[in-house]
Formats: sequence, C-alpha cells, structure tokens
Amino acid sequence: MLETIQGDLYDFPDYYDLVYGSDWRAEFDFLLGCFGNHAQRRVTRVFEPACGTGRLLYRLARQGYDVSGLDRNPRMTAYCNARLARHGFPETCLDGDMSDFTLPRRVDAAFNMINSFRHLATEQQARAHLQCMAAAVAPRGVYVLGLHLTPTVGQPLDRESWSARRGHLAVVTQLWTKERDLKKRQERCGMTYDVYTPTRAFRLEGEMTFRTYTAPQFQRLLASVPEWETAAVYDFSYDLSEAIDVTSDTEDAVFVLRRI
Ligand SMILES: C[S@@+](CC[C@H](N)C(=O)[O-])C[C@H]1O[C@@H](n2cnc3c(N)ncnc32)[C@H](O)[C@@H]1O
Repeated sequence: MLETIQGDLYDFPDYYDLVYGSDWRAEFDFLLGCFGNHAQRRVTRVFEPACGTGRLLYRLARQGYDVSGLDRNPRMTAYCNARLARHGFPETCLDGDMSDFTLPRRVDAAFNMINSFRHLATEQQARAHLQCMAAAVAPRGVYVLGLHLTPTVGQPLDRESWSARRGHLAVVTQLWTKERDLKKRQERCGMTYDVYTPTRAFRLEGEMTFRTYTAPQFQRLLASVPEWETAAVYDFSYDLSEAIDVTSDTEDAVFVLRRI
C-alpha cells in the first residue's frame, strides 16, 4: 500500500503536466484546424481560460501564435509562465477566475479542452464565463470548448486512467466518479496520482467537483448568451472530418463556438 497524501491535485503542476502534457498532438492539430476552418478572421492571438500548466499554450507560442492564459491556481500560472519564459516568450499567464475577468486586448481564438469549464459550480458562473469570453474574443473569432455531457440514454463512463513517464519519474492517475447527483447538477470525483521516483513511491489523493450538463441543459445555457453561435461540434477523437450531431447519448463533445 502506497503512502497517501491528501491534497488539491492542481497544486502539483509537474505531475499534472507529465500525465496530461504527453498526449497533446491530436488536440494541437485539431485546434489549428478549428482556427483555420471555423474562425472567420485571421487567428494570431490565442487565449486559454483555466490553462493549468499551459501544455498547449507554449506549443502554440512555438508555432508563432501570440498566446495568453488564465488560471485561479497560482502554482499553475507560475509553472505556465516559467515554461513560456524558458522558451523565450513573455509571461502572459494571469492569475484569475474564468467567470470574472477581462483581457487587456481581444483575441482571435480561445480554447478550453477537457472539462475545466465544468469546474464552474453554478449556472450564473457558467453564464458569466461565456459572457467574459464573448468580451475577450473578437467578432468572428472562435472559442473551442470541450466537455463531457451526461447522456440521458446509456451509462456515462465512470472511471478513467492515464500514465506517463519522463526520465526517472512515472505517474499513474485514476479519476472516478464517487457520486453523481443530477438534481444538484454535481458530479463528485475522486482522483489519485501514484508517483514513482527512484527513491520514493507515494499516492496523492484529492477530490474534485464538476457541474453536470445534459445536452439540452448545455444548449439552453448557450442560448442564454446570444453573442455565441455554434459553428460545429466534434467528439474527443478530434477528427475535423467527423462533425457530430449532439443527441441524448452524446458524452464527449467539443463545441466550436463562433463570436457573432
Ligand atoms: C483539468 S485542468 C486543465 C488545464 C488545461 N486547460 C489543460 O487542458 O491541460 C483544470 C484547471 O482549471 C483551473 N480552474 C478551475 N476553476 C477555475 C476558475 N474558476 N477560474 C480559473 N481557473 C480555474 C484549475 O486551477 C486547473 O488548473
């Protein structure tokens, strides 16, 4: 049995980035495709709310985009800025709440790929986020927003696991649903990082809560912020040639929203 330490798993950007940063190519190519296919303006400035370690941001910077991010966890923003600086880019990741922010200059495109949006606990916060994003993204720009919907037909996926290794560090993560309360619109998840180094092995364990959305609930929220139209929806296979129709059994959804 591993020694277990309880905590907020977003306080450990190194481990987060090792696990989630390794598998970036499909999302990266997909984002470039969305900017090209769905933005109706040239995309040079790109923003990521809830950017975490900025695993995609610094790669976009290397591709020539002018990037910025925002996160409420100062350990994440410090990690993101340090990496941008290491690669010779300005430290453009800000500390802040994605439901209450303004950017100094509008951007052409934004993205938020893996459920971070669902950390916004209430409908008011979610709407405020979409409104802040509408002020942040210039007309005809896009916001690529990925989340798991709660299917009303079939069973949602209840457990996911990833692992990665870099040099002598290996991390295995588990994320599982502890409780899903569709009335309260809350999904409580447990998460662990099992960390292995040459001298130590331990488990970090934490909990996170996500707001739930069925497809109609999410569509209603979108309709309440008329600055956005839906240009296309894809799933987490990130295949630009396979747009999907959102139905009652849809679980993975990446909405490409366009600023009207
Ligand atoms: C799953 S990580 C995603 C990071 C990054 N978007 C990625 O794709 O790797 C979720 C991030 O959302 C941040 N976060 C959660 N709620 C937030 C809020 N209200 N405002 C800003 N950041 C938030 C957390 O601190 C964490 O870094």
